[in-house]
Amino acid sequence: RTEPSQQQTGRTAAHDSAFLRACRREPVPHTPVWFMRQAGRSLPEYRKVREGTAMLESCMRPELVTEITLQPVRRHNVDAAIFFSDIVVPLKAIGIDLDIKPGVGPVVAEPIRTRADLERLRPLDGGDVPYVTEAIRMLTAELGTTPLIGFAGAPFTLASYLVEGGPSRNHEHTKALMYGDPELWADLLDRLADITAAFLKVQIEAGASAVQLFDSWVGALAPADYRRSVMPASAKVFDAVAGYGVPRIHFGVGTGELLGLMGEAGADVVGVDWRIPMDEAARRVGPGKALQGNLDPAVLFAGHEAVRAKAGEVLDAAKGLEGHVFNLGHGVLPTTDPDALTRLVEFVHERTSR
Ligand code: CP3
Repeated sequence: RTEPSQQQTGRTAAHDSAFLRACRREPVPHTPVWFMRQAGRSLPEYRKVREGTAMLESCMRPELVTEITLQPVRRHNVDAAIFFSDIVVPLKAIGIDLDIKPGVGPVVAEPIRTRADLERLRPLDGGDVPYVTEAIRMLTAELGTTPLIGFAGAPFTLASYLVEGGPSRNHEHTKALMYGDPELWADLLDRLADITAAFLKVQIEAGASAVQLFDSWVGALAPADYRRSVMPASAKVFDAVAGYGVPRIHFGVGTGELLGLMGEAGADVVGVDWRIPMDEAARRVGPGKALQGNLDPAVLFAGHEAVRAKAGEVLDAAKGLEGHVFNLGHGVLPTTDPDALTRLVEFVHERTSR
C-alpha cells in the first residue's frame, strides 16, 4: 500500500495547526506567530553552528539546515518553521556564478543584461537541489505537527540581484531593462518564474505545508508598472503551485500601494510591512485573503512594555480580519535580543487565546 502523496491530498501532519488554519481563514485557538529571518544571526546557537561555514555552503548541508531551521522553533515556540535556505540557492544550483557576502548580500559575478545572457538561466529540476529534498524530509519528520514554510524569491527580486549584480538602492539597471526593453524583460521574468515555480514544487513535494514568495524589493515600483511588467510572472509562479492546495504567501517591503495587486497575482495570504495598519491593508487587499504581519522589527529594541503596546496595536487593527498570521513587517534584525522575540510570541499567544 502506498500513502497518498501530498500532491494528491495537500495535507501534511500540520494540517490542523493554528498557522495553516489562519492561512485558510478558519477559526484558530490563538493567533499564530512566526518571524521572517527567525533563523539566523540573532541566535547565539546559530552563530555557533555556522562558524567556519559559508552561507551558501550551509544551505547545501541537510543536517545543518535541519538544525538551524529547528533552533527558533525550540527557543521561541513559534507556530511555524521556515526552511533555512536563501532566495539565490536555485540560481546557484543552475550554475550562476554568485556568492553571498557577509553583511552585503548576494553578489553575481557576471550580471544578466542582454538577450545572450538569458541563456545562462536554464530550467531547474529537482535533481539540481537534492540537498533541499533531503533536508525537508528530515525536517518534516522532526517537526511533526509544526508546519514548515518553504520559500523562494519572486521573479522581480531575483531579477534585481541578477541585473544589478548585487544589492541595489535604486535598481537602476533593472528598471532600465524593464522600461527600455520590455520584451527582453518579459522573457527574463518568465524564465525566473519557471525556476522559482520548480524550486517551490521541490519543497512542497518533499513536505513543506505552505510557501512564501518573497518579492522583497518590488515596492520600488508604481502599481501600473507592477501590473504590466511583474504581475504576469508572479502569477505564473502562483498558478504553477495552485494544484497542491498549500497556502501561498506573498510578501514585499514598501508595498502599501501594491497590496491589492499582490493578492490578485494569486496569493492566499498577503504579507504587510509596518508602514500601514492591518485594517487598512485588509481594505486594500479585499475579501477572500488572509494577511500576515506587521510589527516594525525595530520595535524589538524598545523594551518589553513598548513591544507589548505596539504588538497590541497590530492585534487590535487585525481583529476584523478573516485570517491573521502575526509576523514582523520584515526580517528579524541581526542584533535583536532573542528573549524579546520569545516574550513576544508568549504575549501574542496569551492575548489571543480563545
Ligand atoms: O529564517 C528565515 O527567514 C529563513 C532563512 C532565509 C535566509 N534568506 C537566510 C539568510 C530567508 C527566508 C532568506 C530570504 C532572502 N534572502 C531574501 C528575502 C527576505 C528578505 O529579507 O526580504 C533576500 C532579499 C535575500 C538575499 C540575502 N541573503 C540578503 C539580503 C542577505 C543578508 C546579507 C547580510 O549578511 O546581511 C542574505 C544572506 C542571508 N540569508 C543570511 C541568512 C541567515 C545571513 C548570512 C549569515 O548568517 O552569514
